[in-house]
Amino acid sequence: MKVFSTKKELQKEMEQIRKEGKTVGFVPTMGALHEGHLSLINRSVAENDVTAVSIFVNPTQFNNRSDLEKYPRDLQRDLLLLEKNGCDIVFSPSVDEMYDKNEFESVFEFDFGGLDQVMEGKFRPGHFNGVVQVVSKLFNLVQPTKAYFGEKDFQQLAIIRRMVNLMNFDIEIVGCPIVREKDGLAMSSRNLRLNAEERQKAVEISKTLFESKKLISNFSPEQVQNWVIARLNSFSGLEVEYFEIVHQTTLQPIHSWSEPAIGCIAVFCGEVRLIDNIKYNDVQ
Ligand code: PAJ
Repeated sequence: MKVFSTKKELQKEMEQIRKEGKTVGFVPTMGALHEGHLSLINRSVAENDVTAVSIFVNPTQFNNRSDLEKYPRDLQRDLLLLEKNGCDIVFSPSVDEMYDKNEFESVFEFDFGGLDQVMEGKFRPGHFNGVVQVVSKLFNLVQPTKAYFGEKDFQQLAIIRRMVNLMNFDIEIVGCPIVREKDGLAMSSRNLRLNAEERQKAVEISKTLFESKKLISNFSPEQVQNWVIARLNSFSGLEVEYFEIVHQTTLQPIHSWSEPAIGCIAVFCGEVRLIDNIKYNDVQ
């Protein structure tokens, strides 16, 4: 496994790999790797000649300073896991390597066709601009055949697909299912920040989402939405930021179960903000 921290070294290596006609799978991450990340990496290893993984806690996508500062980092552990899972190339740059000083302060604006106005976009202003800013830079450096993203961040996946379309990247975007802990909690690097009591409460998020699926034959999307919010808010220590049942492609609110519906949620568990989602149907 080769580990690079500069763009130049990475580009040189990728150029050589392309010359050899090899396919490249790419998995962008912010590190603190868990089974969710590894599922993307395993899929890439199975489907490509070479797998490249980036580890970069991207400051431009954090709209909360303390969230950025407290984001878990453990590069040595991540490298061991990557090696064990068959990764070939790791790119782990510094902030100065990825961003020019002036660029860092400039506002990167992109037309997401409304995908960014709802849910995460509403509550984390600038977040998706930061994601697209860094992912487009990484795509240009790696120039992969395929790139792998988790459905855990369902809105991010939709926005990346749109960016690839708008910017004419010749990259196949592969969406991968959510990996959960045994009790149902969606795996997340932020779970490391939960104390024992919070960790116990956090399981109510997925439990409530699974239970809400049983309600759709008798209740409207609005009623199910309200039920989920009320149930989770009834636990002390949990506070729902949003729960919206939206169309799986447009991410706009739906009012009938005949449409392909997904419920996306963000919940504060103490100070830690967790997200999850559930698909209610796959009607096309
Ligand atoms: P990060 O949160 O590290 O996630 C990296 C990738 O792993 C994302 O595609 C995410 O959806 C996926 N992932 C995380 N938890 C998962 C789970 N439980 N099951 C399946 N997949 C999961 O998402 C980011 O980093 C950043 O925004 C990034 C795309 C790297 C840009 O900075």
